[in-house]
Amino acid sequence: MKLLVFAGSTRADSYNRKLAREVVGLAGPKAQVVTHLELSDFDLPLYNADLEAHARPPAQVRLKEIFADHDGWIICTPEYNASYPPLLKNVIDWVTSPVKGDPVWGDEFRASRGKVVGMLSASPGALGGLRAQSHLAPLLLNIKCWVAPTNHALGKAADAFDAEGRLVNDKARQSVEAVVDQVIAAATRLQGL
Ligand code: FNR
Repeated sequence: MKLLVFAGSTRADSYNRKLAREVVGLAGPKAQVVTHLELSDFDLPLYNADLEAHARPPAQVRLKEIFADHDGWIICTPEYNASYPPLLKNVIDWVTSPVKGDPVWGDEFRASRGKVVGMLSASPGALGGLRAQSHLAPLLLNIKCWVAPTNHALGKAADAFDAEGRLVNDKARQSVEAVVDQVIAAATRLQGL
């Protein structure tokens, strides 16, 4: 079972990047492969179909390959204006845009179909980014993912991590682990469907 973990933020001190690192630590002993993606490693402009037609960014197919190569994803999303941030939308749009005339990537959902996705969020607010998850879930269904029913929204994130970026609260860690466990279990059972 191969698990992809990433945060929808590139901010240096991002709470969601810290959460993603926590997920990687928890999932390490449980999944065969855990890939930790940092979106700052990919040079992607804002999606534009003209750009795609004339000068497709190499990062598009690289990202498609990485997303396709994993059975489950765990996304740690920030909340911007009660929704998920443009960085996350932009990456998902590039990953699910069909590469015209390509025998593999001409299928727009080749990289996303059948993936089991766990949603986490972190925010300094009390709701922990839960509203971002409520927008992300229908997007994931639209790109043919199975959305795990167990999720977690980490509120008051400014106080949730220690100096090393580890979660200070055991209960919060258990809630994150419950998402990891469900995604791994479901993706393992759904493999090949
Ligand atoms: C925010 N933030 C925010 N937080 C929240 O809980 N609900 C919200 O609706 C919003 N809206 C919002 C809009 C915009 C434009 C910005 C820039 C920020 C605050 C946000 O949660 C905070 O900046 C987090 O620290 C972002 O996540 P990372 O980068 O720490 O992972």
